[in-house]
Amino acid sequence: VQQEALQKIEACTTMDELQQAKVTYLGKKGPVQELMTLMKDLSPEEKPAFGQEVNVCKQAIAKAIEDKQQILEVSAMASKLEKEKIDITLPGYEPVLGTLHPLSVISQEIEDLFVGMGYDVSEGPEVELDLYNFERANIPADHPARDMQDTFFINAEELLRTHTTAIQTRELEKAQGKMPIKVICPGKVYRRDDDDATHSHQFTQVEGLVVGEGITLADLKGTLKFMADRMFGEGREIRFRPSYFQFTEPSVEVDVTCHICGGKGCSVCKGTGWIEILGAGMVHPNVLEMAGFDSKKCSGFAFGAGIERIAMLKYGIDDIRNFYINDVRFLKTFNRFD
Ligand code: PHE
Repeated sequence: VQQEALQKIEACTTMDELQQAKVTYLGKKGPVQELMTLMKDLSPEEKPAFGQEVNVCKQAIAKAIEDKQQILEVSAMASKLEKEKIDITLPGYEPVLGTLHPLSVISQEIEDLFVGMGYDVSEGPEVELDLYNFERANIPADHPARDMQDTFFINAEELLRTHTTAIQTRELEKAQGKMPIKVICPGKVYRRDDDDATHSHQFTQVEGLVVGEGITLADLKGTLKFMADRMFGEGREIRFRPSYFQFTEPSVEVDVTCHICGGKGCSVCKGTGWIEILGAGMVHPNVLEMAGFDSKKCSGFAFGAGIERIAMLKYGIDDIRNFYINDVRFLKTFNRFD
């Protein structure tokens, strides 16, 4: 019995088989138990020796089962570990990273270079009061200059701001006559335009405003020259052309030498060697006075640029709608993290 049992136990390859063998040999109906029942037929002299032998056999089987159980457990653990092995040298999955929108890239570049010159950055509401968008910018109700900016009105007092000059007039009011003011104001603006390759009913501007004692047009020119160098490459030249805005006097339109041909004339600058980048001027005395400044004791300059326009020039983009349709193939081109 013992020999047969040990052989069977040795042959077990799973816990289930071992359990089965245990029941078979040591169970109530097993051969060991059966031998025990034979005891009652033996003489008293024979009993101890027989009993001892059966016990030895029983213990040997029990021990074999225990040993086998340990061996099976160890190998079960080993095969589990093998199955769950992780190769930590395998390269991981690369998470899909988003990219900054080209308008954000340009906007941040401009903000950064002005912050470097000590400007604050300020934003304002896109749903704006007529007061800040027009009145305080020296564009009173019924003035024909309002027609220059086709406006989305919400009601008699509110509108979607048509220019970041609305942030400028808020900043002037907020300063309560304190100088100097040096602020850069980026944001979305809205105009009732039919969308096409160069027009969009919503676009992005960045406005700069400086107010202090003795600020002149030369300061404006120096500042814009610095900006042109940084945005379009060193060695740019800029020129002022007379223009008209209600909130600046004098007003200028600012051109920079073409960054593609360096001023010789190409298709981007339509052969002129110059590209127009923004509008600017000296803050109109009325604008200063309405915000509580004494226009005899201070002066200031302001400029406003279209971010889309600058991005289109800089990157050679020919359709403004590319900025809004969110084609990832277009957006990926401006991956700053690469
Ligand atoms: N607000 C003007 C525009 O939207 C730009 C501008 C800003 C001009 C500041 C002069 C000074 O066209």
